[in-house]
Parts: sequence; C-alpha cells; structure tokens
Amino acid sequence: MATAAASQVAFSAPSDRAVSGSGIQVRQQSSKSKVSVAPLDLESAKEPPLNTYKPKGPYTATIVSVERAVGPNAPGETCHVVIDHGGNVPYWEGQSYGIIPPGENPKKPGNPQNVRLYSIASTRYGDSFDGKTASLCVRRAVYYDPETGKEDPSKNGVCSNFLCNSKPGDKIQMTGPSGKIMLLPETDPNATHIMIATGTGVAPYRGYLRRMFMEDVPNFRFGGLAWLFLGVANSDSLLYDEEFTSYLKQYPDNFRFDKALSREQKNKSGSKMYVQDKIEEYSDEIFKLLDGGAHIYFCGLKGMMPGIQDTLKKVAEQRGESWDQKLSQLKKNKQWHVEVY
Ligand code: FAD
Ligand code: A2P
Repeated sequence: MATAAASQVAFSAPSDRAVSGSGIQVRQQSSKSKVSVAPLDLESAKEPPLNTYKPKGPYTATIVSVERAVGPNAPGETCHVVIDHGGNVPYWEGQSYGIIPPGENPKKPGNPQNVRLYSIASTRYGDSFDGKTASLCVRRAVYYDPETGKEDPSKNGVCSNFLCNSKPGDKIQMTGPSGKIMLLPETDPNATHIMIATGTGVAPYRGYLRRMFMEDVPNFRFGGLAWLFLGVANSDSLLYDEEFTSYLKQYPDNFRFDKALSREQKNKSGSKMYVQDKIEEYSDEIFKLLDGGAHIYFCGLKGMMPGIQDTLKKVAEQRGESWDQKLSQLKKNKQWHVEVY
C-alpha cells in the first residue's frame, strides 16, 4: 500500500498571532493552513476495509503513547492512546478497532480474553499524518461497591485499564477495523453533520473534524456544516477541547460546538444538563436541517438514547409531526447513525 507523508505540518492554533505596529493581528494565512497529506490508496477505494484482522489471527501493534485526556477535576480518567499499526491495519473515519487484552477469558478457561471494541479517534492518516497510527479515546471502567461506595480494583474493567496503563513500546493484539454505521458520508462535501456525543462517544467525531478542518485532503474539501453536541460531567472532562475550539475560531461558518456539562450546568427544569436538553434548545434548527437532508449521529452511552428519543418525539409532536414516521424516513434516507455502548 502507498504510504502517506505529511509534506507540511503547518496546522497552527488560532492563538498563533503576529504583533504588528498597531497591535495584535491574527495571521489569517497560517491560522487557516491545513496539514497536507499524501493521499493513501484508501482514498480511491469504493468500500472501507473490514475485519482485516480477526480474533483468531490478530495483528500485533505497538503503543506509541498514552496520555490522560482530562483535567484534574474530571471524575474518572479518560486516556488518548496512540497505536502504531505500521500502515497494516488501515481504516476509514468512524470505524472501530477490537483490542484483545492479555490473559485468560474468565468465562472460558484456556481461551484468550474477548475482544473489546473502541471507536477510532483519528483520521485514516493518524495523529502523525503518515497513515501508520490510529488513536483511541479510552475511559477506564472502574467498579464502585454499591454498598460501601468504595472502588474495588479487583472488579475494574480489564481492557480499558490495560490500555490506559500501557507504556510506549508495549505490544497489543488488535482486530478490525469494523463498523460501517458511523462512516462519514462524503459524496456531498457541503452536507450538514449533526454529531451527538456523551463522553468517549466523541471519538469518531474527532476523526471527522480533523478530516474536515485539519487535513488538506485533495478529494474531500468540506464546505458544509458540522455541529457537535458534547455531553460530559464538567469543564475538566471536556475532550479534545483545544482542537475543537480552534476550528470554531477558524471556521465559524462551518463548525458549531455546544456543550452539556451535567455537573456544572442545569437544564430549564433545574436537573442535570444533558445533551438531550441542548437538542431541545436547538430543536427548530435541528429539525429544519434534518428536513434538508442533514446526517445525525449518536455515539457514547447507550443510556442517552431513550432520553434523546423522548425529546425528539416531544418536539415532533409540538410541530404537529409524527416522530415515528420521521424516524423511519431518516433511517430510510441513511441520515440516522447510532453507535452506543
Ligand atoms: P470489562 O472487564 O469488560 O468489564 C465491564 C464492566 O463490568 C466494567 O465496568 C467493570 O468494572 C464491571 N465489572 C467487572 N467485574 C464485575 C463484577 N464482578 N461485578 C459487577 N461488575 C463488574 N469504550 C471507550 O472507552 N472508548 C470508546 O471509544 C469505545 N468505543 C466503543 C465502540 C463500540 C462499537 C462498542 C460496542 C464499545 C465501545 N467502548 C468504548 C466500550 C468498550 O468496548 C468496553 O466495553 C469498555 O472499555 C469496558 O471494557 P473493559 O474490558 O475495561 O471492562
Ligand atoms: P452524569 O454522569 O453527570 O450523570 P461518562 O463520562 O460516564 O461517559 O458520561 C458522559 C456524560 O454523559 C456525563 O455528563 C453523564 O452525566 C452523561 N449522562 C449520563 N447518563 C446520561 C443519559 N441518560 N443521557 C444523557 N447523558 C447522560
């Protein structure tokens, strides 16, 4: 396969300013410059790669880095994990990798652990723009004893803790890539994409947004609207906030970003602010965009879907529409994309 190389790593944060005689001026040219990537063969493929590596014959990849992705006051820990696959496990944005943690399957002694899926949080070019890495956004699954309220490390999640505890150079067993539901439809570069996430559900959207706003990809010049709704506990739990904020500053006509901070903000009835409250707040615009063909994506906590469906149903009824009919139309038109876990 052809390898990609970044001919220019020139993405600069909007804070990159030049001081002129009259004060501070934003350097338009450099703040808008994108990273030009040498297109991978993947760009001309008609279909995404699928299950190149399976549980019986996994790929052995190498950890490049593991970094805490949240601030000190975030409840729990989420890590950004960069994996070197040497260009051998290519993928499209929105796909997932499987990870097989070391050790024996407790339910099937003598057998390896089951595969755990993780959404890929980078573009196909990876964070180093050379097509050889993939990044994951992993939240440590921890177990709190319901009676004592204390953490019981013996019951902590196996794979998420294995990944978050990994060190550069460690080897990991991988499968995939898998999944077609969350692929970014690219036939219309001017389309609208409404992205709803709770927590690590932001992973596929980080990939989409880097492809739209950070990389200069010859055959995908995004001119549409990307609107991200991100639900996390508090400001310290915001993921990839610097990247997203820089897109807001550079592409105000093409990117919108709304946050629901459940433990810092209240909704209009005084309860926790959840993504569905933000959806309700902007429901008129969202419904108009959907009527105009927008794609809507949901990724993250399974538990958010009933609340979101209730909100959308309520809004549809207020507008004199049938939500059931609208939903089946959205599904039929392939505008509705859900990956929750
Ligand atoms: P496991 O070891 O599988 O344990 C699962 C849970 O059970 C844990 O919460 C653990 O604390 C609890 N537990 C363990 N023992 C006991 C016990 N005796 N009694 C009660 N509870 C117990 N996750 C991410 O972080 N990021 C992603 O991007 C992501 N993407 C995903 C995409 C898809 C399509 C899917 C299906 C899932 C995704 N997940 C993602 C979830 C991920 O696959 C794992 O399910 C998650 O990391 C937990 O796996 P684990 O091995 O750490 O926990
Ligand atoms: P909270 O935990 O304050 O109830 P996590 O970090 O656990 O993945 O969660 C991400 C965000 O999703 C948190 O703000 C969490 O709020 C929120 N959340 C939890 N349950 C729901 C739900 N049913 N609907 C929408 N958001 C939810």
